[in-house]
Amino acid sequence: MRILAFAASLRAASFNRKLIKQAVTILRVAPGVEVDLADFHEFEMPMYDGDLEARDGIPAGGREFIRRIQEADGLVIATPEYNGCIPGTLKNAIDWASRTDPIPFEGKPILLIGASPGGLGAVRSLWHSRVPLETIGAHVYPEMMGLPRAHQAFDDNGSLQDANLLSRLQRLLLSYIDFVRKLHGYS
Ligand SMILES: Cc1cc2nc3c(=O)[nH]c(=O)nc-3n(C[C@H](O)[C@H](O)[C@H](O)COP(=O)(O)O)c2cc1C
Repeated sequence: MRILAFAASLRAASFNRKLIKQAVTILRVAPGVEVDLADFHEFEMPMYDGDLEARDGIPAGGREFIRRIQEADGLVIATPEYNGCIPGTLKNAIDWASRTDPIPFEGKPILLIGASPGGLGAVRSLWHSRVPLETIGAHVYPEMMGLPRAHQAFDDNGSLQDANLLSRLQRLLLSYIDFVRKLHGYS
């Protein structure tokens, strides 16, 4: 099983980048799981513009995003929260990806996690992110995980310091992997 994982932040010191790396460390020791860890810079693309699309088609970053989704059995996305909502960059990438047929998100199981220095841990962004993804046919996993006070959450090696949070993330990832297995009929 192949899982595409990425943080929807372009910031070098991104807390979501740290969170997705922690998640990938957990996933990589799960039996039968292969992880494609993408950098969001690989999917950089202009804002959606119907005229640009009519003239040049989907931009290179969007085509790469589509290709990587198509190759994956499932996705784990760590997203920041901007103004109580999904970051425009992630929404824009989803919009471009939805302009190909079949839409690559269709039938894909997706786990949403997020990190924020604030007390709510990006959970509003997670709820908002479900809307476009489910609209275009993704199976967003019912459970999600927001990491509050993310600026204090990681040690110098990038590991979650709180053992309870770490085991919660482990349990969530393993139950999500089980869901992906069942959805695709893998034994
Ligand atoms: C435009 C903007 C809006 C933001 N709005 C929120 C918000 O609504 N809730 C929140 O918890 N943090 C908010 N933040 C703070 C982000 O959580 C913080 O910048 C975080 O570090 C971004 O994620 P990253 O570290 O992965 O880049 C906002 C940041 C920006 C730049």
